Amino acid sequence: MSENTISTVDELKDYLKKNLSEHRYIHTLGVAQTTEKVLRHYGCTDYVKTWNNFSAGEFCGLVHDLAREKRDQEILDYCKTNSLELKPEEVLSPVLAHGLVSAHMAARLCGEYPLSWYRAICLHTTGDREMDDLALSLFVADFIEPSRKFLTDDDRKRYLSSSSLTECTYAILCDMIEHWKRKGYHDASGSSLSLKADLEERIRRGN
Ligand SMILES: [Fe+2]
Ligand SMILES: [Fe+2]
Repeated sequence: MSENTISTVDELKDYLKKNLSEHRYIHTLGVAQTTEKVLRHYGCTDYVKTWNNFSAGEFCGLVHDLAREKRDQEILDYCKTNSLELKPEEVLSPVLAHGLVSAHMAARLCGEYPLSWYRAICLHTTGDREMDDLALSLFVADFIEPSRKFLTDDDRKRYLSSSSLTECTYAILCDMIEHWKRKGYHDASGSSLSLKADLEERIRRGN
């Protein structure tokens, strides 16, 4: 992979178009637009908004799934080669580390971007406690972006009618956990349960 060669949105989109499947590319465009929309919708201002030629929501959305099409062994190999530490749940299920690997790949492609953006990309897969507004918006956008076929526009409106970004994320996370349980896919990861407990605490405190 060439390093530090991408410096504009158009160059980044061009790279993604060449390196992702068509449906993943469309998904990343949807997540980029929707992250910006969610940040605006909830009037979020407390995050690093721009870096070089990129805006936060657009950049994080575009790169969040750079590693999503890697196989488990490729994820593990990448982490080993680049000394990226995996959580126990990621060792058991390497696909959960695609956020971490995507964040690292994005830095190699575009340069050292803000740490809060890096953390948002890392955490988009399972969530975790202490996510800032950018990280929550990316998490929400990944679930509700327009190309997700399992949601209707009414579902999207219902989520976005939540009174705060915290409430919106909580509604989505609870539905995700219920969905995994019903389909018998897997139990919620420890990180997802940490996010759930953290959001419940924020809601209890009224923010
Ligand atoms: Fe993802
Ligand atoms: Fe995604």
